[in-house]
Amino acid sequence: MKSPETKTCIITGATTGIGLETARQLAAGGMRVIGIGREPETCRRAEADLSRPGRHAEVRFMAVDFSALGNVRRAAAVIRRELPGGRLDRLIHNAVALSSRYVGTEDGYELQFAVNYLAAFLLTQELLPCLVRPEDGRVIAVSSGSHRRAEIAWRDPMRRRRYNGLRAYGQSKLALVLFTRELNRRVACRFPLRAIGIEPGFVDAAIGGSRPKDKSLSPADAATSIVRLAAEPSSSIPADYWRLGRPAEPSPYARSAAAALRLWRLSEKLIGADFL
Ligand SMILES: NC(=O)c1ccc[n+]([C@@H]2O[C@H](COP(=O)([O-])OP(=O)(O)OC[C@H]3O[C@@H](n4cnc5c(N)ncnc54)[C@H](OP(=O)(O)O)[C@@H]3O)[C@@H](O)[C@H]2O)c1
Repeated sequence: MKSPETKTCIITGATTGIGLETARQLAAGGMRVIGIGREPETCRRAEADLSRPGRHAEVRFMAVDFSALGNVRRAAAVIRRELPGGRLDRLIHNAVALSSRYVGTEDGYELQFAVNYLAAFLLTQELLPCLVRPEDGRVIAVSSGSHRRAEIAWRDPMRRRRYNGLRAYGQSKLALVLFTRELNRRVACRFPLRAIGIEPGFVDAAIGGSRPKDKSLSPADAATSIVRLAAEPSSSIPADYWRLGRPAEPSPYARSAAAALRLWRLSEKLIGADFL
Protein backbone atom coordinates (compact mmCIF):
# COMPACT_ATOMS: atom_id res chain seq x y z
CA MET A 1 0.00 0.00 0.00
CA LYS A 2 1.30 3.47 -0.89
CA SER A 3 1.71 6.17 1.70
CA PRO A 4 -0.92 8.94 1.71
CA GLU A 5 1.76 11.27 0.25
CA THR A 6 1.80 9.35 -3.01
CA LYS A 7 0.59 11.69 -5.72
CA THR A 8 -2.55 10.76 -7.59
CA CYS A 9 -2.85 11.51 -11.27
CA ILE A 10 -5.81 11.12 -13.60
CA ILE A 11 -5.09 10.84 -17.28
CA THR A 12 -7.81 10.64 -19.90
CA GLY A 13 -7.33 8.82 -23.19
CA ALA A 14 -4.91 6.54 -21.38
CA THR A 15 -5.58 3.27 -23.20
CA THR A 16 -3.40 3.83 -26.27
CA GLY A 17 -0.76 6.05 -27.84
CA ILE A 18 0.62 9.01 -25.91
CA GLY A 19 -1.83 8.54 -23.03
CA LEU A 20 -0.88 4.92 -22.39
CA GLU A 21 2.84 5.75 -22.41
CA THR A 22 2.26 8.73 -20.13
CA ALA A 23 0.34 6.54 -17.69
CA ARG A 24 3.12 3.94 -17.84
CA GLN A 25 5.84 6.51 -17.06
CA LEU A 26 3.83 8.19 -14.31
CA ALA A 27 3.21 4.82 -12.65
CA ALA A 28 6.88 3.87 -13.02
CA GLY A 29 7.74 7.16 -11.31
CA GLY A 30 5.60 6.15 -8.31
CA MET A 31 2.36 8.04 -8.93
CA ARG A 32 -1.01 6.46 -8.28
CA VAL A 33 -2.60 6.52 -11.74
CA ILE A 34 -6.25 6.52 -12.69
CA GLY A 35 -6.49 6.04 -16.44
CA ILE A 36 -9.65 6.75 -18.37
CA GLY A 37 -10.61 5.33 -21.77
CA ARG A 38 -13.84 4.89 -23.64
CA GLU A 39 -13.97 1.14 -24.22
CA PRO A 40 -14.14 -1.33 -21.29
CA GLU A 41 -11.96 -3.79 -23.22
CA THR A 42 -9.14 -1.31 -23.99
CA CYS A 43 -9.27 -0.21 -20.35
CA ARG A 44 -8.93 -3.82 -19.15
CA ARG A 45 -5.97 -4.38 -21.46
CA ALA A 46 -4.20 -1.18 -20.43
CA GLU A 47 -4.75 -1.88 -16.74
CA ALA A 48 -3.35 -5.42 -17.12
CA ASP A 49 -0.35 -4.08 -19.07
CA LEU A 50 0.51 -1.43 -16.49
CA SER A 51 -0.15 -3.65 -13.47
CA ARG A 52 2.03 -6.60 -14.51
CA PRO A 53 3.88 -8.31 -11.63
CA GLY A 54 6.99 -6.41 -10.66
CA ARG A 55 5.35 -3.04 -11.30
CA HIS A 56 4.41 -1.67 -7.93
CA ALA A 57 2.44 1.44 -8.71
CA GLU A 58 -1.30 1.50 -8.14
CA VAL A 59 -2.97 1.68 -11.52
CA ARG A 60 -6.65 1.62 -12.16
CA PHE A 61 -8.66 2.22 -15.31
CA MET A 62 -12.22 3.44 -15.77
CA ALA A 63 -14.27 3.23 -18.95
CA VAL A 64 -16.12 6.49 -19.50
CA ASP A 65 -17.58 7.69 -22.77
CA PHE A 66 -16.90 11.43 -22.68
CA SER A 67 -19.35 12.15 -25.47
CA ALA A 68 -22.12 12.50 -22.84
CA LEU A 69 -21.90 15.09 -20.06
CA GLY A 70 -23.85 12.77 -17.74
CA ASN A 71 -21.12 10.13 -18.05
CA VAL A 72 -18.46 12.69 -17.11
CA ARG A 73 -20.45 13.78 -14.04
CA ARG A 74 -21.06 10.20 -12.90
CA ALA A 75 -17.39 9.29 -13.30
CA ALA A 76 -16.33 12.40 -11.38
CA ALA A 77 -18.66 11.46 -8.51
CA VAL A 78 -17.05 8.00 -8.27
CA ILE A 79 -13.56 9.50 -8.43
CA ARG A 80 -14.34 12.09 -5.73
CA ARG A 81 -15.49 9.34 -3.39
CA GLU A 82 -12.50 7.12 -4.01
CA LEU A 83 -9.59 9.57 -4.08
CA PRO A 84 -7.38 9.00 -1.03
CA GLY A 85 -7.87 12.02 1.23
CA GLY A 86 -10.11 13.54 -1.47
CA ARG A 87 -6.93 14.86 -3.07
CA LEU A 88 -6.07 14.96 -6.76
CA ASP A 89 -2.57 16.14 -7.66
CA ARG A 90 -2.63 15.98 -11.46
CA LEU A 91 -5.37 15.95 -14.07
CA ILE A 92 -4.16 15.34 -17.61
CA HIS A 93 -6.64 15.93 -20.43
CA ASN A 94 -5.44 13.78 -23.31
CA ALA A 95 -8.54 12.00 -24.67
CA VAL A 96 -9.33 12.63 -28.29
CA ALA A 97 -12.14 11.74 -30.66
CA LEU A 98 -11.77 12.31 -34.38
CA SER A 99 -14.46 12.53 -37.00
CA SER A 100 -14.51 13.63 -40.63
CA ARG A 101 -18.31 14.00 -40.64
CA TYR A 102 -20.65 15.74 -38.26
CA VAL A 103 -21.58 13.48 -35.34
CA GLY A 104 -24.00 14.83 -32.75
CA THR A 105 -23.80 13.67 -29.14
CA GLU A 106 -26.78 12.81 -26.95
CA ASP A 107 -26.51 16.32 -25.45
CA GLY A 108 -26.81 17.77 -28.94
CA TYR A 109 -23.19 18.86 -29.27
CA GLU A 110 -20.55 18.14 -31.90
CA LEU A 111 -18.52 15.02 -31.02
CA GLN A 112 -14.97 16.45 -31.19
CA PHE A 113 -15.92 19.59 -29.28
CA ALA A 114 -17.71 17.46 -26.68
CA VAL A 115 -15.02 14.81 -26.13
CA ASN A 116 -11.82 16.77 -26.74
CA TYR A 117 -12.79 19.96 -24.97
CA LEU A 118 -16.12 20.17 -23.15
CA ALA A 119 -15.59 16.92 -21.20
CA ALA A 120 -12.23 18.31 -20.02
CA PHE A 121 -13.86 21.57 -18.92
CA LEU A 122 -16.59 19.69 -17.05
CA LEU A 123 -14.25 17.10 -15.48
CA THR A 124 -12.04 19.91 -14.16
CA GLN A 125 -15.08 21.72 -12.76
CA GLU A 126 -16.34 18.55 -11.08
CA LEU A 127 -12.94 17.69 -9.60
CA LEU A 128 -11.90 21.20 -8.58
CA PRO A 129 -12.46 20.58 -4.83
CA CYS A 130 -9.93 17.72 -5.06
CA LEU A 131 -7.49 19.62 -7.29
CA VAL A 132 -7.16 22.51 -4.85
CA ARG A 133 -6.23 20.22 -1.93
CA PRO A 134 -2.57 19.57 -2.74
CA GLU A 135 -0.09 22.41 -2.31
CA ASP A 136 0.88 22.21 -5.95
CA GLY A 137 -2.05 20.96 -8.04
CA ARG A 138 -1.87 20.83 -11.81
CA VAL A 139 -4.10 20.52 -14.85
CA ILE A 140 -2.36 19.61 -18.11
CA ALA A 141 -4.15 19.83 -21.45
CA VAL A 142 -2.68 18.01 -24.43
CA SER A 143 -3.37 20.31 -27.38
CA SER A 144 -1.97 20.15 -30.89
CA GLY A 145 -0.26 22.26 -33.55
CA SER A 146 -3.69 22.22 -35.24
CA HIS A 147 -4.80 24.90 -32.77
CA ARG A 148 -2.56 27.36 -34.66
CA ARG A 149 -4.77 27.44 -37.75
CA ALA A 150 -8.00 27.37 -35.76
CA GLU A 151 -10.60 29.78 -34.51
CA ILE A 152 -13.77 29.41 -32.48
CA ALA A 153 -16.88 29.55 -34.64
CA TRP A 154 -18.81 31.72 -32.16
CA ARG A 155 -22.01 31.78 -34.18
CA ASP A 156 -21.98 28.04 -34.77
CA PRO A 157 -19.55 26.44 -32.30
CA MET A 158 -20.90 22.97 -33.07
CA ARG A 159 -20.17 23.67 -36.74
CA ARG A 160 -23.44 22.20 -37.91
CA ARG A 161 -23.27 24.31 -41.07
CA ARG A 162 -20.60 23.20 -43.56
CA TYR A 163 -18.88 20.74 -41.26
CA ASN A 164 -15.15 20.21 -41.70
CA GLY A 165 -13.65 17.57 -39.39
CA LEU A 166 -10.13 19.03 -39.36
CA ARG A 167 -11.45 22.50 -38.53
CA ALA A 168 -13.60 21.07 -35.75
CA TYR A 169 -10.57 19.18 -34.39
CA GLY A 170 -8.44 22.37 -34.51
CA GLN A 171 -11.18 24.29 -32.73
CA SER A 172 -11.35 21.70 -29.94
CA LYS A 173 -7.57 21.90 -29.47
CA LEU A 174 -7.63 25.73 -29.49
CA ALA A 175 -10.44 25.60 -26.91
CA LEU A 176 -8.19 23.54 -24.62
CA VAL A 177 -5.43 26.15 -24.77
CA LEU A 178 -7.87 29.01 -24.12
CA PHE A 179 -9.23 26.97 -21.20
CA THR A 180 -5.80 26.59 -19.55
CA ARG A 181 -5.19 30.32 -19.81
CA GLU A 182 -8.55 31.35 -18.39
CA LEU A 183 -8.28 28.74 -15.63
CA ASN A 184 -4.91 30.19 -14.61
CA ARG A 185 -6.39 33.68 -14.56
CA ARG A 186 -9.26 32.53 -12.34
CA VAL A 187 -7.26 30.48 -9.84
CA ALA A 188 -4.38 32.98 -9.55
CA CYS A 189 -3.97 34.14 -5.92
CA ARG A 190 -6.87 31.89 -4.83
CA PHE A 191 -5.70 28.32 -5.21
CA PRO A 192 -2.34 26.58 -5.54
CA LEU A 193 -3.34 25.19 -8.92
CA ARG A 194 -1.71 25.69 -12.29
CA ALA A 195 -2.83 24.83 -15.80
CA ILE A 196 -0.40 23.99 -18.59
CA GLY A 197 -0.99 23.44 -22.29
CA ILE A 198 1.23 21.16 -24.32
CA GLU A 199 1.73 20.45 -28.01
CA PRO A 200 3.39 17.06 -28.45
CA GLY A 201 4.34 17.39 -32.16
CA PHE A 202 3.73 14.58 -34.64
CA VAL A 203 3.63 11.31 -32.85
CA ASP A 204 3.55 7.80 -34.22
CA ALA A 205 0.14 7.06 -32.68
CA ALA A 206 -3.42 6.86 -33.97
CA ILE A 207 -3.70 10.50 -35.06
CA GLY A 208 -0.18 11.10 -36.33
CA GLY A 209 0.13 7.56 -37.69
CA SER A 210 0.21 8.45 -41.39
CA ARG A 211 3.54 10.34 -41.05
CA PRO A 212 6.80 8.58 -41.90
CA LYS A 213 8.36 7.20 -38.71
CA ASP A 214 11.55 9.26 -39.13
CA LYS A 215 9.42 12.45 -39.08
CA SER A 216 7.48 11.61 -35.95
CA LEU A 217 8.17 11.01 -32.27
CA SER A 218 7.41 7.76 -30.53
CA PRO A 219 4.49 7.88 -28.07
CA ALA A 220 7.02 7.19 -25.29
CA ASP A 221 9.12 10.25 -26.26
CA ALA A 222 6.02 12.45 -26.43
CA ALA A 223 4.96 11.11 -23.04
CA THR A 224 8.31 12.04 -21.48
CA SER A 225 7.59 15.76 -21.98
CA ILE A 226 4.15 15.44 -20.42
CA VAL A 227 5.49 13.44 -17.49
CA ARG A 228 8.17 16.05 -16.82
CA LEU A 229 5.51 18.76 -16.59
CA ALA A 230 3.48 16.56 -14.26
CA ALA A 231 6.39 15.51 -12.04
CA GLU A 232 8.31 18.77 -11.57
CA PRO A 233 7.31 21.23 -8.86
CA SER A 234 5.50 24.24 -10.30
CA SER A 235 8.39 26.56 -9.35
CA SER A 236 10.65 24.67 -11.82
CA ILE A 237 8.26 25.09 -14.76
CA PRO A 238 8.97 28.43 -16.44
CA ALA A 239 6.06 28.52 -18.91
CA ASP A 240 2.38 27.68 -19.21
CA TYR A 241 2.63 26.41 -22.78
CA TRP A 242 5.04 23.83 -24.17
CA ARG A 243 5.82 22.54 -27.64
CA LEU A 244 8.04 19.52 -28.25
CA GLY A 245 9.31 19.69 -24.69
CA ARG A 246 10.24 23.38 -24.80
CA PRO A 247 8.48 26.55 -23.63
CA ALA A 248 6.57 28.09 -26.55
CA GLU A 249 3.89 30.64 -27.34
CA PRO A 250 0.50 29.33 -28.45
CA SER A 251 -1.15 31.06 -31.43
CA PRO A 252 -2.12 34.75 -31.18
CA TYR A 253 -5.78 33.66 -31.13
CA ALA A 254 -5.09 31.33 -28.19
CA ARG A 255 -3.48 34.25 -26.34
CA SER A 256 -6.61 36.41 -26.60
CA ALA A 257 -7.94 37.04 -23.08
CA ALA A 258 -11.28 38.12 -24.57
CA ALA A 259 -11.65 34.85 -26.47
CA ALA A 260 -10.71 32.85 -23.36
CA LEU A 261 -13.34 34.63 -21.28
CA ARG A 262 -15.98 34.28 -23.98
CA LEU A 263 -15.29 30.56 -24.34
CA TRP A 264 -15.46 30.06 -20.57
CA ARG A 265 -18.90 31.68 -20.47
CA LEU A 266 -20.08 29.64 -23.44
CA SER A 267 -18.77 26.44 -21.80
CA GLU A 268 -20.59 27.23 -18.55
CA LYS A 269 -23.78 27.60 -20.57
CA LEU A 270 -23.16 24.33 -22.40
CA ILE A 271 -22.57 22.34 -19.20
CA GLY A 272 -25.40 24.17 -17.44
CA ALA A 273 -23.31 25.20 -14.42
CA ASP A 274 -21.05 27.97 -13.17
CA PHE A 275 -17.36 27.22 -12.81
CA LEU A 276 -15.27 29.49 -10.58
N1 LIG B 1 -0.60 11.56 -32.33
C1 LIG B 1 -0.22 12.77 -32.75
O1 LIG B 1 0.55 12.95 -33.70
C2 LIG B 1 -0.70 13.99 -32.00
C3 LIG B 1 -0.28 15.25 -32.46
C4 LIG B 1 -0.71 16.38 -31.76
C5 LIG B 1 -1.53 16.24 -30.66
N2 LIG B 1 -1.92 15.00 -30.28
C6 LIG B 1 -2.82 14.90 -29.11
O2 LIG B 1 -2.30 13.92 -28.22
C7 LIG B 1 -3.37 13.26 -27.55
C8 LIG B 1 -3.22 11.75 -27.68
O3 LIG B 1 -3.19 11.41 -29.05
P1 LIG B 1 -3.00 9.88 -29.53
O4 LIG B 1 -2.66 9.91 -30.97
O5 LIG B 1 -2.11 9.19 -28.57
O6 LIG B 1 -4.52 9.37 -29.36
P2 LIG B 1 -5.13 7.90 -29.53
O7 LIG B 1 -4.07 6.85 -29.56
O8 LIG B 1 -6.13 7.96 -30.66
O9 LIG B 1 -5.94 7.70 -28.15
C9 LIG B 1 -7.19 8.27 -27.98
C10 LIG B 1 -7.64 8.00 -26.57
O10 LIG B 1 -8.85 8.73 -26.33
C11 LIG B 1 -9.84 7.82 -25.86
N3 LIG B 1 -11.16 8.23 -26.34
C12 LIG B 1 -11.60 8.32 -27.61
N4 LIG B 1 -12.90 8.66 -27.64
C13 LIG B 1 -13.29 8.78 -26.35
C14 LIG B 1 -14.52 9.07 -25.70
N5 LIG B 1 -15.65 9.29 -26.40
N6 LIG B 1 -14.56 9.08 -24.36
C15 LIG B 1 -13.45 8.85 -23.61
N7 LIG B 1 -12.26 8.55 -24.17
C16 LIG B 1 -12.18 8.51 -25.51
C17 LIG B 1 -9.45 6.45 -26.42
O11 LIG B 1 -10.05 5.43 -25.61
P3 LIG B 1 -10.41 3.97 -26.26
O12 LIG B 1 -9.09 3.38 -26.68
O13 LIG B 1 -11.04 3.21 -25.14
O14 LIG B 1 -11.32 4.24 -27.42
C18 LIG B 1 -7.94 6.53 -26.29
O15 LIG B 1 -7.54 6.23 -24.98
C19 LIG B 1 -4.66 13.80 -28.17
O16 LIG B 1 -5.22 14.78 -27.34
C20 LIG B 1 -4.22 14.40 -29.48
O17 LIG B 1 -5.05 15.45 -29.92
C21 LIG B 1 -1.54 13.86 -30.92
